[in-house]
Amino acid sequence: MAEQELCVVTGAFGYSGSHIARRLLDRGKRVRTITGRPDKDDPLQSKVEAHSFNFDNPGHLRKSLEGATTLYNTYWIRFEKGDMTFAKAVANSRVLIQAAVEAGVERIVHISIANPSEASYLPYFRGKAQVERTIRESGLSYAIVRPTVIFGGGKDILINNIAWMLRRAPVFGILGDGQYPIQPVHVGDLADICVKQGESRDRVTLDAVSVDLFTMEELMCTIAEGVGSYAALMRVPVPVGLFVTSIIGRIVGDVVLTRHEVEGLMEGLLYSEKPPLGPTSLRDWIFEHGDTLGREYYSEMATHYKKK
Ligand SMILES: NC(=O)c1ccc[n+]([C@@H]2O[C@H](COP(=O)([O-])OP(=O)(O)OC[C@H]3O[C@@H](n4cnc5c(N)ncnc54)[C@H](OP(=O)(O)O)[C@@H]3O)[C@@H](O)[C@H]2O)c1
Repeated sequence: MAEQELCVVTGAFGYSGSHIARRLLDRGKRVRTITGRPDKDDPLQSKVEAHSFNFDNPGHLRKSLEGATTLYNTYWIRFEKGDMTFAKAVANSRVLIQAAVEAGVERIVHISIANPSEASYLPYFRGKAQVERTIRESGLSYAIVRPTVIFGGGKDILINNIAWMLRRAPVFGILGDGQYPIQPVHVGDLADICVKQGESRDRVTLDAVSVDLFTMEELMCTIAEGVGSYAALMRVPVPVGLFVTSIIGRIVGDVVLTRHEVEGLMEGLLYSEKPPLGPTSLRDWIFEHGDTLGREYYSEMATHYKKK
């Protein structure tokens, strides 16, 4: 019997990584994950071999990648906290890419972000562009997949947590004029794009966005309608909105929204001019999931910081 192909997925017990891992398992591949939470109680735990990130031990990291044809890389941070900075995330990503090269991995399918730029003053977008360059210069065959905001399939922090607030607040603020574009992609569509790219050997960079393009104001109104919110929606100055979200953050013990995330949004970076590759309509999805959307708050801090 032919040996099963081995793929490594970073963060297979996380959000997009779990969707990629499930698709690979369904296709008969063997999946190994590299994660910060190898012991996590997770439905995929029995099907996926879990290794630790070991960024400070590249030899161990290389061993975790040995035998794999493809690395699906989701690793990144959403915001800086303590010594976990974007510069460190770039450095860790470079250690991972070098380990993949040394381990003989053939291809990397890397999840980036739409509109990254090394000239950006936003460290998230700048760091993503730096990692993309490292991949292009690594000699590996690569697909760089650039999503905007990801929704659906559990743990879609932004859309879910907006819905969570809309269910509870009598008044809800739209930051600035709300006229900036946002074009999220369904996590299943993103995973399909990644797995398809894993089969190819072409060097490509693709935007992953869905068919629905909203202004932020339209998206808020659609979520409010979808979950049956009675909140009065009003435009508020950005500093006011950030102040209020920082108070909500203290109550829920999380970072709800960062200034840089708002700036990225308002600069139109979560939008693509390329043809949409994700067929799932966010508008339809919101109305299909209106009953469950935002019932529970999804905390980034609880996922990636508190349990360490
Ligand atoms: N979610 C979105 O809306 C969105 C939008 C645009 C781009 N992206 C990009 O898509 C990729 C996957 O995102 P995702 O939401 O699916 O991520 P995720 O599952 O929450 O995390 C992806 C990987 O990064 C690790 N990680 C995340 N935060 C970390 C932290 N603070 N410290 C250490 N490790 C951390 C996770 O570690 P564990 O294995 O320990 O969980 C996991 O291996 C990322 O590159 C992200 O930048 C996401």
